[in-house]
Amino acid sequence: MPDTKKLFIKTYGCQMNVYDSERMAETLGAEGYVVTEVAEEADMVLLNTCHIREKASEKLYSDLGRLRPLKQAKPDLKIGVAGCVAQAEGEEILRRMPLVDLVVGPQSYHRLPGMMGEVAKGKKAVDTDFPAEDKFDHLPERKMLRGPSAFLTVQEGCDKFCAFCVVPYTRGAEVSRPVARLLGEARALVEKGVREITLLGQNVNAYHGEGEGGSWGLARLVRELARIDGLERIRYTTSHPNDMDDDLIAAHGEEAKLMPYLHLPVQSGSDRILKAMNRKHTREQYFRLVERIRAARPDILLSSDFIVGFPGESDADFADTMDLIRQVGFGAAFSFKYSARPGTPAAEKDPVAADIADARLQELQALITSQQRAAQEAMVGREVAVLYEKAGRLPGQMVGKSDHLHAVHVADSEGRVGDLVRVRITASAPNSLAGARLDGSIVA
Ligand code: 5AD
Ligand code: SF4
Repeated sequence: MPDTKKLFIKTYGCQMNVYDSERMAETLGAEGYVVTEVAEEADMVLLNTCHIREKASEKLYSDLGRLRPLKQAKPDLKIGVAGCVAQAEGEEILRRMPLVDLVVGPQSYHRLPGMMGEVAKGKKAVDTDFPAEDKFDHLPERKMLRGPSAFLTVQEGCDKFCAFCVVPYTRGAEVSRPVARLLGEARALVEKGVREITLLGQNVNAYHGEGEGGSWGLARLVRELARIDGLERIRYTTSHPNDMDDDLIAAHGEEAKLMPYLHLPVQSGSDRILKAMNRKHTREQYFRLVERIRAARPDILLSSDFIVGFPGESDADFADTMDLIRQVGFGAAFSFKYSARPGTPAAEKDPVAADIADARLQELQALITSQQRAAQEAMVGREVAVLYEKAGRLPGQMVGKSDHLHAVHVADSEGRVGDLVRVRITASAPNSLAGARLDGSIVA
């Protein structure tokens, strides 16, 4: 057995990074590392970074600065930078922060063991390739679990090139994993107690993996996954409106295991801005799409992403976005102030004044918050299914997610993590619901 060393991982950004962090921990686990929650006791600190907005990138450098005393006190401490800032900045990170030992991009982390060998010899290791081999074929079996709900990356990269976005540059072109691999990984997760799988991809509904008889779309993959006994729930994120095909919409009405929640970013409600963003759809097309999805699954909760203050956004454009939000009605949403990213087409354009963008963001967030509250209030009195993810803070309390992805606190002294139970919703708090467990379990 190799010596046990401790690994501390900090994950920034999206769910894809959460998945990658788990898989890096598994890879380093095979090298004798066990995960610790305490940075001070770590032999290796790995920062898995996000490049999507300027603030997210800056966080890396301030966190690295904060690691300096730790490295001084413990010169053997290894510091690694992974993720999209690693991909975008590569060697530059070593120049700016000499305390860093290793820089690894999102497509190369299966090479971590070899890189760690170099680092052990006192060298610096940088790998930001897009290797020909598939990293997923070179990773150890899944073992880290965050309870009964797991992520499964089915697709990576993006070919859409929205004018504001770095993803096509940091994560590269769209690549879908083969069906057989995904079914294998899903079955292994279910055998380890997983009951809910969220399929991940930067453009997950553009999935077109190689399967029996040719290329499979996401709907076909979902239908096949739904046949796995013991897997109770399937979700997927993030989708592009233009890739919601008829089969996927139909699956929302037909597959009971496909949960009634869909994250469908629209970014703006103004046709002029949508065009400038290179989104390749109009507001009217988004409305029609929402109608079709709701016809298939009337109780579906929709969420979205919005950017305010995109270059050229006028008051009238912003009013169109607010109008779209009012017309659609969202159960949740993420909203961001536009952040110019070097190398993207929009970064060349004149920005909207910061105070105007701030005011728009506040106004939009207030509207979304009121819609979110209303969606939660509408659950009060209803019976929902909840998958317990952890014990609550109060004694005899469990916390889990409903089908509609609401966090639900349930008074249940018998409950265990992984139980899927029926709950009557009794109250709505700002970011969660409270409920009482009904007799019997769906699955325990
Ligand atoms: N500025 C602000 N928000 C951005 N997003 C992506 N790029 C930028 C940017 N340059 C947002 C989009 C996307 C979400 C993941 O992040 O809304 O859907
Ligand atoms: Fe970025 Fe647009 Fe691709 Fe989403 S669809 S990852 S916003 S380029």
